[in-house]
Amino acid sequence: MTQLPSLLDTEALRKDFPILDRTVHDGRKLVYLDNAATSQTPRQVLDVLSEYYEQHNANVHRGVHVLAEEATALYEGARDKVAAFINAPSRDEVIFTKNASESLNLVANMLGWADEPYRVDHETEIVITEMEHHSNIVPWQLLAQRTGAKLKWFGLTDDGRLDLSNIDEIITERTKVVSFVLVSNILGTVNPVETIVRRAQEVGALVCIDASQAAPHMPLDVQALQADFVAFTGHKMCGPTGIGVLWGRQELLEDLPPFLGGGEMIETVSMHSSTYAPAPHKFEAGTPPIAQAVGLGAAVDYLNSIGMDRILAHEHALTEYAVKRLMEIPGLRIIGPTTAEDRGAAISFTLGDIHPHDVGQVLDEQGIAVRVGHHCARPVCLRYGIPATTRASFYLYSTPAEVDALVEGLEYVRNFFG
Ligand code: ALA
Repeated sequence: MTQLPSLLDTEALRKDFPILDRTVHDGRKLVYLDNAATSQTPRQVLDVLSEYYEQHNANVHRGVHVLAEEATALYEGARDKVAAFINAPSRDEVIFTKNASESLNLVANMLGWADEPYRVDHETEIVITEMEHHSNIVPWQLLAQRTGAKLKWFGLTDDGRLDLSNIDEIITERTKVVSFVLVSNILGTVNPVETIVRRAQEVGALVCIDASQAAPHMPLDVQALQADFVAFTGHKMCGPTGIGVLWGRQELLEDLPPFLGGGEMIETVSMHSSTYAPAPHKFEAGTPPIAQAVGLGAAVDYLNSIGMDRILAHEHALTEYAVKRLMEIPGLRIIGPTTAEDRGAAISFTLGDIHPHDVGQVLDEQGIAVRVGHHCARPVCLRYGIPATTRASFYLYSTPAEVDALVEGLEYVRNFFG
């Protein structure tokens, strides 16, 4: 069996994930390579979720009874854990949302309703990139349509990187906000944050980073990033679905208006007007995703117990191996960087002229789960002149043997389609 330098004891880690033991299609071993879509959940998180519902379930910030106090302490404790995980200067900068899409929509809406100096209007510009997930395109398109602001974007190079050659023309004195992905979900590219942030700061633009494919895979330090907002989601980092995070700089969160109104987010309400609770509660209207936040806190504990540096190193070695093996397959074209340098563990490719849906289906018949399609990043497919890709994406429990299984599976696909 192929061995990589021993970075993580994947054999032991895999025992934490009950689902990785299951078989599919009449006893075939599951090879789960769709981690960029969602990661699997370890027993440690499942146990915390069960215990929450079995022992502590109540609404938060509302009751004086024991369960309400316990649920509130667990929910707010999860905020502490997330704040420490991303090195946030203050726990009050961590807003719980339902997913990264909601986090990004929240930023776009806050800026649309904001007063000066943050207000996005018809005299201002919004900058994104061509490699964004739809969740970091559509909210900005909506904002541009509603305010008359101009939407601009960085294009892509042939090798799947951002083309920053015209950075001074794209980010200008009119730019109010620059929003971009840290690690692309389709190309795997890790973007040069510092270069973009430096230019944004020169013109006084806010910076929003979509870290959905970064937070699960590498140490994330919001202070080092020097961004104003960072969004990510729980279900890609061993947590449950239904929980996302928006981190924002405290002074911004104090100044910016709420987006959703309702219970929890107010200070006082009369029939004529309302005043709002301080951040983060100002941005958490209604009953929040309590169990999901508690589950995310457990996921953070789990990832910390392994170490984000070690997870990053493991995935880097695995990606290097996977890229090399995949490129040996005749007719296979990687859409994205073809080295592991500045690259995450999602690898998209085409295989001759076999449609990715056919590739995915024949792989699935062999027990190998990949994602096919445009991966909610259709402009990338348009840029490279392809209808879709097949994407394999790895995580902390992925092994070289699973890369080998994928390569063998793809050989089978090639033979199957002649
Ligand atoms: N954003 C997820 C993916 O890329 C769903 O697959």
